[in-house]
Amino acid sequence: MQQSTRIAPSILSADFAALGEEVRAVSDAGADYIHIDVMDGHFVPNLTIGPAVIAALRPHSVLPFDVHLMISPVDPFIPDFVQAGADIVTVHAEAGPHLHRTIQLIKDLGARAGLALNPGTPVSAVEPLLDSLDLILVMSVNPGFGGQSFITGQLAKVRRLRDLIDGTGRMIDLQVDGGINADNAAVVVSSGADVLVAGSATFKGDAGQYATNINALRATAS
Ligand code: DX5
Ligand code: ZN
Repeated sequence: MQQSTRIAPSILSADFAALGEEVRAVSDAGADYIHIDVMDGHFVPNLTIGPAVIAALRPHSVLPFDVHLMISPVDPFIPDFVQAGADIVTVHAEAGPHLHRTIQLIKDLGARAGLALNPGTPVSAVEPLLDSLDLILVMSVNPGFGGQSFITGQLAKVRRLRDLIDGTGRMIDLQVDGGINADNAAVVVSSGADVLVAGSATFKGDAGQYATNINALRATAS
């Protein structure tokens, strides 16, 4: 069942010199999740942050930390991310050879488990895992950088996943990540998404602007 639209600001577009304040600002501005993009310079061509930064941010918000791991190998680092305060841990289908084991590891550690599909990854990658996933993330850009353009062709994948999720009767978040803004949020939601990740569209202007930015995404989406 499609749930109410939730907004997950990606802190990749925040001021990295003031990350604690930025996390507090978007939490106060009405965000639902804090989306944290972790990149290793190997699985994706960029480097960002690790568990120590997440642990330092944890006291700055009561919102769920939605940690998107773009790293490979991923299994050895999952305990550190959960320990640091991740509530949701999302891994990519290509991050390791034993995806079922990876998802079980996340769940055994008490976190919610997500699976991310790159633009070139088929819907069929989720099917063997539908009974244990809590979140499916559709990448609407190739992972690695904020501020890229939305790949419209991914909406067909969102629609197919909405049908698959509804067929399970389970509550699985359907999240879309990359290039989301106030112009395309409505079509992303009408295609079946219920969590919108937005980096550059949220962290636009100064902190006084964040509530307006988040409301613009939510308003066009409902
Ligand atoms: C890309 C990241 C996204 C991205 C979102 O690899 O997973 O979370 O930074 O940023 P925008 O909303 O600017 O595309
Ligand atoms: Zn992300």
